[in-house]
Amino acid sequence: MRAKLVVGNWKMNGDLASNARRLDALAAGWKAKPGRELAVCVPFPYLAQARERLQGSAVAWGAQDVSEHAAGAHTGEVAAAMVAEFGSRYAIVGHSERRQAHRESDALVAAKARAALAAGLVPVVCVGETLAERDAGRIEEVVGAQVDAAIAGLGEAVARCVVAYEPVWAIGTGRTATPEQAQEVHALLRARLKRAGAGDVALLYGGSVKAANAAALFGMADVDGGLVGGASLDADEFMAIGAA
Ligand code: PGA
Repeated sequence: MRAKLVVGNWKMNGDLASNARRLDALAAGWKAKPGRELAVCVPFPYLAQARERLQGSAVAWGAQDVSEHAAGAHTGEVAAAMVAEFGSRYAIVGHSERRQAHRESDALVAAKARAALAAGLVPVVCVGETLAERDAGRIEEVVGAQVDAAIAGLGEAVARCVVAYEPVWAIGTGRTATPEQAQEVHALLRARLKRAGAGDVALLYGGSVKAANAAALFGMADVDGGLVGGASLDADEFMAIGAA
């Protein structure tokens, strides 16, 4: 059986004082469990704080983006190697908020995932359709193209990624995909990854995951855990999701 992974995406939230409380609560409260992993992806400036508060605990950490470049004249960018230097395990790439607000293309997302892997990080590659695309019956076309671009850009290394299916209409809206809707898309992602020799990639569901709906979602055959935004800001709620 594939392990369950729950990754928190803090987005642009937090400050030193509230982070300290949340990280300490996770470090003290989350006990290592076989086949379960919990991680938080924090804003770049707080990677040092995440390392300080979480090292030695069973909780992993990481960033929410990395540059596709390794180093050099890229003002404002953060290299994957810099993220890795702070003990990070994960880097989210291609979140829909970045695809939309920063016009990140499938090719750029694949390049970022490559940069993350080269630095020893596990990229969490996000894919997902908008409501208009879903309503137009274009789920497979859109999500399929996104995962195919990752496969094309990464080759065999795609097997070392995590893929997160996050329907854009479910993010931060309180409107979660039903377990059946999630499973339907995860199955098509799994089939494409399998054809690329990466059938065991962890497939996370994201979009309004909370403790109350996590067990039903994670109980589906191809849902290997979650990428959690809002609910990851509450340590108890987040750990309940991790245990679901
Ligand atoms: P949400 O966000 O859980 O607040 O819907 C998920 C995400 O954007 O990763």
